[in-house]
Amino acid sequence: MNAQERADYFDTIYQQQDPFGYGTRWYESRKRDILLATLPRAGFARAWELGCSNGETTRGLAARCQTLLATDMSGEAVAQAAQRVGARSNVEIVQACHPQQWPHGSFDLIVVSEVGYYLQPDELKDLVERVEDSLTPEGLLVACHWKHAFEQAHQDGLAVHHCIGHLLSLPLAYRYEDNDFLLEAWTAHPLSVAQQEGLR
Ligand SMILES: C[S@@+](CC[C@H](N)C(=O)[O-])C[C@H]1O[C@@H](n2cnc3c(N)ncnc32)[C@H](O)[C@@H]1O
Repeated sequence: MNAQERADYFDTIYQQQDPFGYGTRWYESRKRDILLATLPRAGFARAWELGCSNGETTRGLAARCQTLLATDMSGEAVAQAAQRVGARSNVEIVQACHPQQWPHGSFDLIVVSEVGYYLQPDELKDLVERVEDSLTPEGLLVACHWKHAFEQAHQDGLAVHHCIGHLLSLPLAYRYEDNDFLLEAWTAHPLSVAQQEGLR
């Protein structure tokens, strides 16, 4: 799919409320909980969630971030996210297609979850390079993707993560993998949560 076909595809599926079952499937809430639980800081100053869909993960991130930018290329998804997130004043939800459109400033947390495989390989490469430039020096990039091939995906999640890891100059900070998804995070300054908490 090119960018226009992708926008049409997502606008069509978001005619349904919660087309991926984010609010109803235990698979999804477990995955979201794992992503949030692995974040090595209790709070972040300025985060960006790329491809926020209908805002389920956005709500979880909002509680951990002073300010949160949530973007999605689908106007329908953005409308559903705005409804879910409600009046939280620290969240800005914007319709934008990446990497063609890009936010200003830098972020100490960027989350790319279940988005990378929709991009064409050259778009993914561009996105990864720009993401690294948009991280603060201590910033963390978290990526999480379904491992299996599916019709709309240009590549599977393992290939997406291989590409991200290969292009970034940042070391891997941590990873979680099960039969179905892979979650990885990179940062120039990996943190020990135990050290932060004075446990060692
Ligand atoms: C499968 S949902 C993932 C939702 C959420 N991030 C999660 O992990 O549960 C993918 C979302 O990414 C959006 N998306 C896909 N390609 C995008 C792009 N190039 N720029 C911005 N959003 C994009 C779609 O509109 C869709 O809402």
